[in-house]
Amino acid sequence: MPATITAISHFLPSDIIDNSYFEKYLDTSDEWIIARTGIKERRFLKEGATSDLIVPAAQKLFKDYNINPEEIDTIIVATVTPDHMFPNTAAVVQHKLGMKNVWGFDISAACSGFLFALRTACSLVESGTSKKVLLCGADKMTSIMDLNDRATAVLFGDGAGVCLIEMSDDPNMGLIDHILHIDGDGGRYLKQIAGGSFKPASHETVDNKEHYIFQDGQNVFKAAVKGMADVSVEIMERNNLTHEDIAYLVPHQANLRIISATADRMGLNPEKVMINIQKFGNTTAATIPICLSEWYSQGKIKKGDNIVLSGFGAGFTWGAILLRWNMNQRGLI
Ligand code: UT7
Repeated sequence: MPATITAISHFLPSDIIDNSYFEKYLDTSDEWIIARTGIKERRFLKEGATSDLIVPAAQKLFKDYNINPEEIDTIIVATVTPDHMFPNTAAVVQHKLGMKNVWGFDISAACSGFLFALRTACSLVESGTSKKVLLCGADKMTSIMDLNDRATAVLFGDGAGVCLIEMSDDPNMGLIDHILHIDGDGGRYLKQIAGGSFKPASHETVDNKEHYIFQDGQNVFKAAVKGMADVSVEIMERNNLTHEDIAYLVPHQANLRIISATADRMGLNPEKVMINIQKFGNTTAATIPICLSEWYSQGKIKKGDNIVLSGFGAGFTWGAILLRWNMNQRGLI
């Protein structure tokens, strides 16, 4: 029996930063940002850390679905902006939410973090190790962004998506299939150079701005277009699904042009593609659960829908997951 999502929620900070904010002090324009990325605005968390994005999303989840947090036995946080290198953000979230009888850990897979964590959470449930997993995809990207670098400052935002993972009540619904990859050869194109054991923090690393996101955009773009489309088509083909059988593609939201290329290769009409990059930018591990949560809360996802989640990010990490949605419109299976 597969595991499945049984509740979903998200949180975005209230501070909206539109493209005109950057036009005031960077050599950039609203036209360039929209044409090259599709982003119009993003949200910045002014105070607090990644756990402060997760906690309100989790509290909303508990309230909306009448979940007793005491019943949750595992917390998984996908993030590249943990509150600290250690302790893990899962422990910070546990403490802030006052949860008991729970263990947990963080997963670092950048923009594919939610996909990797979803597969892990479902495997824990399917093996009987966990019964209820609080799965969080969250990043405070502003904590590692150089706001004076036009090549990266305009791309990212802060946000969190959380969901509950439990055993499905139907063998044909839940997480049906996954294709997940890593290739460390891509590490040179997208990384946080310093701050780890390879290059610990020093005056020099701070002076050289090596704690901020470094990205060779063009090389990441080329790899992302191919990687995301390849796995999305592969997961359709090996599950004998045509474009008509797919209700939605939920792509990682890094660039509208990457999303369109993936949807085109899958033969999907635009209305079958979840896109909110124009409002929130790239929130890294949070983009996919935020999309799912938004569309579900608007009543646009039905029980039985085939949904392909697809992402590409630093590592390189990439992959696709086929979900058959197992919640009705009132939220609970
Ligand atoms: O989420 C994790 C994975 N990340 C991704 O998937 C991101 C993949 N990459 C991309 O989305 C795109 O490469 C970017 C949006 C980052 C950049 O778009 P691009 O079309 O690849 O632009 P480019 O890097 O080739 O730069 C073209 C020009 C350059 O100027 P010159 O050398 O042609 O004079 C840049 O300096 O655009 C310039 N540029 C900008 N101009 C105005 C770069 N950033 C900006 C900016 N405003 N914000």
